[in-house]
Amino acid sequence: KHINNASFTWQTPSNIALVKYWGKSNPQIPKNASISFTLNNCHTITTIEFVKKEKSEEVSFNLFFEGKPKEEFKPKIAEFFKRIQEYCPYIFEYEMTINSENSFPHSSGIASSASGLSAIAMCLMSLEQELNPDLSVESINKKASFLARLGSGSASRSIEGPLVVWGEHPEIEGSSDLYGVQFPFSINPIFENYQDVILLVDKGEKQVSSTVGHNLMHNHPYAENRFKQANENLCKMSKILQEGSIKEFISLVESEALTLHAMMLTSNPYFILMKPNTLEIINKIWEYREENNSNICFTLDAGANVHVLFPENERENVIQFIDSQLSNYCQKNHYICDVAGFGAKKR
Ligand code: PMV
Repeated sequence: KHINNASFTWQTPSNIALVKYWGKSNPQIPKNASISFTLNNCHTITTIEFVKKEKSEEVSFNLFFEGKPKEEFKPKIAEFFKRIQEYCPYIFEYEMTINSENSFPHSSGIASSASGLSAIAMCLMSLEQELNPDLSVESINKKASFLARLGSGSASRSIEGPLVVWGEHPEIEGSSDLYGVQFPFSINPIFENYQDVILLVDKGEKQVSSTVGHNLMHNHPYAENRFKQANENLCKMSKILQEGSIKEFISLVESEALTLHAMMLTSNPYFILMKPNTLEIINKIWEYREENNSNICFTLDAGANVHVLFPENERENVIQFIDSQLSNYCQKNHYICDVAGFGAKKR
């Protein structure tokens, strides 16, 4: 089919890993399988306008972020297009104008790469579907995740939801190193609409990017054991999610978060992304859980912010605890309430 002009808009979310991805081989092949909750409120909305060019030469695009030209993000997107051009040859034929906005505030320390790159991938797949109307939704999602992965590994887990596994794993049928797949089993109701409140401890730029962090897993003294452990933890997590064993969920999720940071503490060069308030919050969460017979727990990404996870039935009490106590450890008392969601949405 011949298309001269087209424009597509997608909203895609961020995600939070329960079993973490940390360490990869080229190009973006994970060293272990990971699983995440897809988020709902933390998302990117991206529109791409495609205008057919006279001649198809180099890939050319304009980039706007919240309505303003954004030169500093261009090299990352250019590199992304380079990696995917063999899978999307049509990108040579169009001038692309990309317009993006995030639902979460600027430099909040929330990784926007997962939501940002999955949104671009979905827009490309919409064009591909126009060019080839026979594509099924399933194959569109699979390829979108495949493309998003080449931009940022964890972005492969932002197309579907509420639980996505990325990385080949014997217990997850259909799983692949090349794209994320929906968690194939039914989950216990306690994990439905699972809540995630993101405490913004530090909104600054991270001192060490996740690209550098992943690379430090090469020659890392504990790497092989860690990859093995993560794959075993994915087995455990799969069982926990199906059976609803929430106490085991709590200890596995917190252990995964601390292990991720332990890898950073023990790499060469070593680095620390947690801040004093990260630890203050963790201790407060432990105290609250003890005193209130609660099922809240924390997890961490590659940064100082804390994700507070808890079942929907504790929402009122936990939000009150966060608002009255934990928010004091956040920059400008800022936190974001989110919930597990269902992935990419066409706008
Ligand atoms: O997608 P990347 O390359 O930015 O890696 C992110 C890895 C963690 O967020 C730290 C863990 C994960 O599995 O999301």
